[in-house]
Amino acid sequence: MTFDTSVVDVQVQRSFSSTETNTSASTGKENMLPSEDSNEGLARHGSPYKEVSTDELYDQWASTYDTDGNILQFVDDLQMRNLMEQFVRLCSSRTLANDTGRLDILDLGCGTGRNTLKLLQSPWPSSVETFIYGWDGSQAMLDIGRSKCADVHHSTPDRQFGALFEVVDISDPANVPEQCDSFFSGLISTLVLEHIKIETYFAITARVLKPGGYALITNMHSDMGRLSRAGYKTASGERIKGTSYIYTPAETVEAAAAAGLELVGEAGEAAVDEWMFGEEDVGHGERGKVAERARKWVGTKVWYGMVLRKRGFW
Ligand SMILES: C[S@@+](CC[C@H](N)C(=O)[O-])C[C@H]1O[C@@H](n2cnc3c(N)ncnc32)[C@H](O)[C@@H]1O
Repeated sequence: MTFDTSVVDVQVQRSFSSTETNTSASTGKENMLPSEDSNEGLARHGSPYKEVSTDELYDQWASTYDTDGNILQFVDDLQMRNLMEQFVRLCSSRTLANDTGRLDILDLGCGTGRNTLKLLQSPWPSSVETFIYGWDGSQAMLDIGRSKCADVHHSTPDRQFGALFEVVDISDPANVPEQCDSFFSGLISTLVLEHIKIETYFAITARVLKPGGYALITNMHSDMGRLSRAGYKTASGERIKGTSYIYTPAETVEAAAAAGLELVGEAGEAAVDEWMFGEEDVGHGERGKVAERARKWVGTKVWYGMVLRKRGFW
């Protein structure tokens, strides 16, 4: 998620798991490093960023967000296949075991509904009423998500649900409605943490989940965050950015644990997934082709993701 991390026509996989415990000194520090992306190199040319609110950044980005070939979205799409499957299975089995008959699932910072749509299309148990919610601070991103997911509602008559989208600014826990406390059985939040103070983010996550509820979280990796950040080049050529923070996977696990959320894994092994492109993945390769513009990220971890569980039971 940077000015120029786009990948097109790509089909590669390069991921591994990590239980990294070392933490760097970056927690909570706003990312003030210039982007080194071409487009053409802010650092080299000294072009200034205009600081805008994160909502404004995404309001402006919304119309091209799904189509500008961003490599983080690409990696996230690939990695979410397994993570989402695991998340749906965990939430479903707990609900079936407890016979609550109802699942409420939140996409926190849902944006244009890229992953809300996947939630809607997931194989939730047919005996359970499932409700999907999307919260985001950007009205323009939400509008796209709403229209994208409206089609799913109509195309699956056997599944009488759609997604409920609302503007909620999660930079302040006071904005989160009290009736949502301990309400959601599961929550996904993809590529959002970068924009929020980590203590606030996990305070909200822990607050809205039921005890025993699951959270699937992905984020820009700190190794990439030290070099780049979420930003957008407007039609007039102006470069804008919102608020960004750099968090390592280990810092994320620690902050989650402090809020009462523990890392879960399958086959008894709890781990954070991380992603790094290899040289052999760029431009050619048996597994497909990554666009040349991803080459500068070879050898840099760009993404991490994890599934967490709030302590307790519902
Ligand atoms: C990179 S996008 C990710 C969107 C979506 N989750 C995805 O994976 O495509 C980050 C999203 O976080 C939202 N966001 C950032 N700060 C926020 C805040 N304080 N409150 C609510 N949403 C916020 C933005 O509006 C944007 O839609």
